[in-house]
Amino acid sequence: MDVQTWLRIEPAGWRLPWPAGMTLLEAAQHHGVRLPRSCRNGTCRACLCQRTAGATHHRIAWPGLSAEEREAGWILPCVSDADGPGEVVIHQPEAQRGIPSTNTRSSPGANAVQGS
Ligand code: FES
Repeated sequence: MDVQTWLRIEPAGWRLPWPAGMTLLEAAQHHGVRLPRSCRNGTCRACLCQRTAGATHHRIAWPGLSAEEREAGWILPCVSDADGPGEVVIHQPEAQRGIPSTNTRSSPGANAVQGS
Protein backbone atom coordinates (compact mmCIF):
# COMPACT_ATOMS: atom_id res chain seq x y z
CA MET A 1 0.00 0.00 0.00
CA ASP A 2 1.37 3.40 -1.03
CA VAL A 3 1.27 5.80 1.92
CA GLN A 4 3.27 8.50 0.17
CA THR A 5 1.68 11.70 -1.02
CA TRP A 6 2.68 12.73 -4.53
CA LEU A 7 2.40 16.01 -6.32
CA ARG A 8 2.07 16.00 -10.09
CA ILE A 9 2.52 19.31 -11.89
CA GLU A 10 0.95 19.55 -15.32
CA PRO A 11 1.43 20.22 -18.17
CA ALA A 12 5.13 19.47 -17.44
CA GLY A 13 4.27 16.05 -16.00
CA TRP A 14 6.64 16.33 -13.01
CA ARG A 15 5.80 13.93 -10.19
CA LEU A 16 7.31 14.78 -6.82
CA PRO A 17 7.08 13.26 -3.34
CA TRP A 18 5.18 15.67 -1.09
CA PRO A 19 6.85 15.68 2.36
CA ALA A 20 4.49 15.72 5.33
CA GLY A 21 4.05 19.11 6.96
CA MET A 22 4.92 21.13 3.86
CA THR A 23 2.54 23.25 1.87
CA LEU A 24 2.19 22.49 -1.82
CA LEU A 25 4.39 25.50 -2.61
CA GLU A 26 7.07 24.34 -0.14
CA ALA A 27 6.97 20.77 -1.47
CA ALA A 28 7.54 21.96 -5.03
CA GLN A 29 10.39 24.24 -3.93
CA HIS A 30 11.90 21.39 -1.90
CA HIS A 31 12.36 19.54 -5.20
CA GLY A 32 13.65 22.52 -7.16
CA VAL A 33 10.39 23.53 -8.80
CA ARG A 34 9.42 27.17 -8.65
CA LEU A 35 5.73 28.00 -8.70
CA PRO A 36 4.46 31.57 -9.03
CA ARG A 37 4.16 33.22 -5.59
CA SER A 38 4.40 36.45 -3.68
CA CYS A 39 2.80 36.87 -0.23
CA ARG A 40 2.90 33.20 0.86
CA ASN A 41 0.01 33.78 3.23
CA GLY A 42 -3.02 33.14 1.05
CA THR A 43 -4.02 36.70 0.22
CA CYS A 44 -2.37 37.92 -3.01
CA ARG A 45 -3.46 35.04 -5.33
CA ALA A 46 -0.14 35.07 -7.21
CA CYS A 47 0.13 31.30 -6.70
CA LEU A 48 -3.42 30.50 -7.83
CA CYS A 49 -3.66 27.22 -9.73
CA GLN A 50 -6.23 24.56 -10.40
CA ARG A 51 -6.23 21.18 -8.69
CA THR A 52 -7.47 18.61 -11.18
CA ALA A 53 -7.17 15.51 -8.98
CA GLY A 54 -6.53 14.57 -5.38
CA ALA A 55 -7.54 16.23 -2.14
CA THR A 56 -6.11 19.28 -0.41
CA HIS A 57 -7.25 21.79 2.17
CA HIS A 58 -6.19 25.32 3.03
CA ARG A 59 -4.31 25.96 6.26
CA ILE A 60 -6.09 29.21 6.83
CA ALA A 61 -9.81 29.72 7.37
CA TRP A 62 -10.30 32.42 4.74
CA PRO A 63 -7.93 32.04 1.77
CA GLY A 64 -8.40 34.57 -1.02
CA LEU A 65 -10.80 32.44 -3.05
CA SER A 66 -14.51 32.63 -3.68
CA ALA A 67 -16.75 29.67 -2.90
CA GLU A 68 -17.24 29.19 -6.65
CA GLU A 69 -13.48 29.09 -7.25
CA ARG A 70 -13.00 26.53 -4.50
CA GLU A 71 -15.78 24.41 -5.93
CA ALA A 72 -14.09 24.54 -9.36
CA GLY A 73 -10.85 23.24 -7.84
CA TRP A 74 -8.88 26.47 -7.65
CA ILE A 75 -6.40 26.47 -4.78
CA LEU A 76 -3.67 28.65 -3.30
CA PRO A 77 -0.54 26.43 -3.06
CA CYS A 78 1.18 28.67 -0.49
CA VAL A 79 -1.41 27.66 2.13
CA SER A 80 -2.46 24.25 0.77
CA ASP A 81 -1.82 20.95 2.53
CA ALA A 82 -2.43 17.46 1.18
CA ASP A 83 -5.33 15.60 2.75
CA GLY A 84 -3.39 12.36 2.97
CA PRO A 85 -1.64 9.74 0.89
CA GLY A 86 -2.31 9.61 -2.81
CA GLU A 87 -1.64 11.91 -5.71
CA VAL A 88 -2.57 15.56 -6.06
CA VAL A 89 -2.49 16.94 -9.59
CA ILE A 90 -2.32 20.65 -10.34
CA HIS A 91 -2.29 22.56 -13.59
CA GLN A 92 0.35 25.29 -13.47
CA PRO A 93 1.91 26.07 -16.87
CA GLU A 94 4.20 28.71 -15.29
CA ALA A 95 6.08 26.20 -13.11
CA GLN A 96 9.85 26.30 -13.62
CA ARG A 97 12.40 23.63 -12.87
CA GLY A 98 15.94 24.05 -11.67
CA ILE A 99 15.84 26.47 -8.74
CA PRO A 100 18.09 25.74 -5.77
CA SER A 101 16.25 23.51 -3.34
CA THR A 102 15.66 24.50 0.27
CA ASN A 103 17.59 21.53 1.61
CA THR A 104 21.31 20.91 1.43
CA ARG A 105 21.32 19.29 -2.00
CA SER A 106 22.57 21.52 -4.77
CA SER A 107 20.91 19.63 -7.57
CA PRO A 108 17.21 20.06 -8.07
CA GLY A 109 14.78 17.32 -7.37
CA ALA A 110 16.95 14.29 -6.81
CA ASN A 111 13.82 12.42 -5.67
CA ALA A 112 11.62 13.82 -8.40
CA VAL A 113 10.58 11.59 -11.24
CA GLN A 114 9.34 12.52 -14.65
CA GLY A 115 5.75 11.47 -15.13
CA SER A 116 4.44 9.78 -18.20
S1 FES B 1 1.61 33.56 -2.73
FE1 FES B 1 0.05 34.99 -2.28
S2 FES B 1 -1.75 33.78 -2.17
FE2 FES B 1 -0.15 32.34 -2.47
